[in-house]
Amino acid sequence: MESVKPVIDQGRCTSCGACVEACRFEVLKLRKRGAEPCGIGNCLVCGACVAVCPVGAVEHPLMPAERIIELPEEAPVGYPELMDLLARRRSIRRYTDEPVAEADLRALVAAAILAPSGHNAQPWQFTFVTAPERLAAVRAAVAEFYRRGLVALDDDAARAALGEQAVRILTIMAPALQLLLRAHDRGDDRLLWGAPALGIVHATPDAPVAEISCTYAAANMQLAATALGLGTCLIGFLTIPLMFGDAATGAAVGLPEGHRAHAAMAIGHPRLLYRRSVVRREPPVTII
Ligand SMILES: Cc1cc2nc3c(=O)[nH]c(=O)nc-3n(C[C@H](O)[C@H](O)[C@H](O)COP(=O)(O)O)c2cc1C
Repeated sequence: MESVKPVIDQGRCTSCGACVEACRFEVLKLRKRGAEPCGIGNCLVCGACVAVCPVGAVEHPLMPAERIIELPEEAPVGYPELMDLLARRRSIRRYTDEPVAEADLRALVAAAILAPSGHNAQPWQFTFVTAPERLAAVRAAVAEFYRRGLVALDDDAARAALGEQAVRILTIMAPALQLLLRAHDRGDDRLLWGAPALGIVHATPDAPVAEISCTYAAANMQLAATALGLGTCLIGFLTIPLMFGDAATGAAVGLPEGHRAHAAMAIGHPRLLYRRSVVRREPPVTII
């Protein structure tokens, strides 16, 4: 299929060649009258040509000007400011009752989609659950999924039906799951930690390396949430039933038919103020 290519405003193009240099896929060539799409390469719609043009002569039909962010040469956020933001992102497990504004959820998506994605496929889709009865349905479906799983661990035939991967995951998680289920039974939310919103990043199964791309998108969402004064917590305990295709959990979170969920996160206003950072283990680092 013919890809959609950038358009050069020849009146403004100064033939500096920056767009040709930035595009590593041979979509553009420098000719006598300036840069031009050359019809060889397949445009990834990465926007590098649009981004580097010093005079704004390159446009892309799939990149409306009103959605482009102008970047000053000097980044307003330096390493110390970035480190501060990264240190503030913590897994928040106490939330206030204040709902998360829809504008904030949309701001998280705006940050998410600036993430890199394999082959620029941008496979991500986003579903947010904020209705209390829906959140209750999610908690109930997940509890039921794990209750069935733990029962199955004690039964040879049921274990075989679960499959090796599920048995391994359930066995490792069994103590934490018992706690989660006991808490659920007394109305204590140890799954979503009482958060007023839940975000799911999902994609169709045919999207290339969607799992990795959606994970990067989720990481951007977490940092954007921190910058907005919101807290998040990744909820692997919810991603697992969705990954195993549990229909009740999928229906409760509104996962579109056939989609795979790659990240789930609780979102809300933190109840507690974190005053200092965590200290991580020193990791092995090799620089050869
Ligand atoms: C893939 C993944 C799954 C996680 N699942 C859960 C979860 O189900 N529930 C939870 O409370 N925290 C979950 N977490 C949060 C981790 O426990 C947390 O990131 C870790 O303890 C480090 O703490 P910090 O996020 O506050 O820096 C998960 C984190 C990741 C990366």
